[in-house]
Amino acid sequence: MRVEKHPVLGDRKVGRMVTISVDGAEIEAVEGEPIAAALLAQGMIVMRKTPRFGEPRGVFCGIGRCTDCAMTVDGVPNVRTCVTPVKAGMVITSNLKGGGE
Ligand code: FES
Repeated sequence: MRVEKHPVLGDRKVGRMVTISVDGAEIEAVEGEPIAAALLAQGMIVMRKTPRFGEPRGVFCGIGRCTDCAMTVDGVPNVRTCVTPVKAGMVITSNLKGGGE
């Protein structure tokens, strides 16, 4: 779910919808929004598991400082998805199913 009407910020114009791949599933996202925002809009709150204990991690700081949202984007590991904009055709993988990091 995305905020399209805000009581303070007013109406928000949603950009062009594009398709990205996340762990093999095609999802719709708004071009230019943070990858993490697109995943949250789809209900995906866990973006990785810690390598040592397998604990779930998702958006924590939301400003690119903590790495809790890190995923593999177009083959590049440890990309902070909260500050990386969506581009059409991106391939994103987590380590939730044994792939990714
Ligand atoms: S949520 Fe902290 S770096 Fe993305």
